Amino acid sequence: MVNDKTVDIAPSILSADFSRLGQQIEAVERGGATLLHVDVMDGHFVPNITVGLPVVKSITRCTRLPIDAHLMISKPGVYAEQFVRAGAKMVSVHVEADAQLHRTLMSIKGLGAQAGVVLNPATPMSDLEEALQFVDYVLVMSVNPGFGGQQFILSSIDKVRRLRRIIDERRLHVRIEIDGGIDLENIAAVVAAGADIIVAGSAIFGKSDPQAAVRELREATVQWV
Ligand code: DX5
Ligand code: ZN
Repeated sequence: MVNDKTVDIAPSILSADFSRLGQQIEAVERGGATLLHVDVMDGHFVPNITVGLPVVKSITRCTRLPIDAHLMISKPGVYAEQFVRAGAKMVSVHVEADAQLHRTLMSIKGLGAQAGVVLNPATPMSDLEEALQFVDYVLVMSVNPGFGGQQFILSSIDKVRRLRRIIDERRLHVRIEIDGGIDLENIAAVVAAGADIIVAGSAIFGKSDPQAAVRELREATVQWV
């Protein structure tokens, strides 16, 4: 039997060569990427600093891929709307970072983008109890946020499985995204557990041929049982 549900492959530009970002994005688009994942880090919520609004704005001019902005910042409520206005079609905020989560999610949706919440590896699913009904997707971190190239935390597979069960039981239309340490070895398992959106950084841009790497990852999502 073939698993034919639609899975999005979202290359994370964190591991790209920023001196030729446009070309790298074209390559993953040719390889079959369906989203582009942009990691925004502020050096406060996570111990790293990356890119922000101007980069999102520039990228929208060189790709048709929808931009999925992952905000790893301390005050997501202050900036979320600005990322939508800069061109992001999906914006996710960490539950650990936002005391006004409902307000932030509504502001993202109010501008016509998809709103997501993110759970760090040690954040329990119970933190989603109320928020789940207001979101378009949940991003399950399978590494601690901050850096590309880290080792996949195995228990994330079970977390995805439990989350999928909760979403299905509540009959919600919420997609599951997974981010961190995804590669050819584990992608089939996370898709089988219920993930719909697969983020991969080093498994794509760390390879000599990012276009082929996307294609191989997509092929590996297909389950034969
Ligand atoms: C980590 C970021 C990830 C990162 C993933 O904080 O959220 O998106 O780029 O990179 P890999 O796939 O190399 O773990
Ligand atoms: Zn990310």
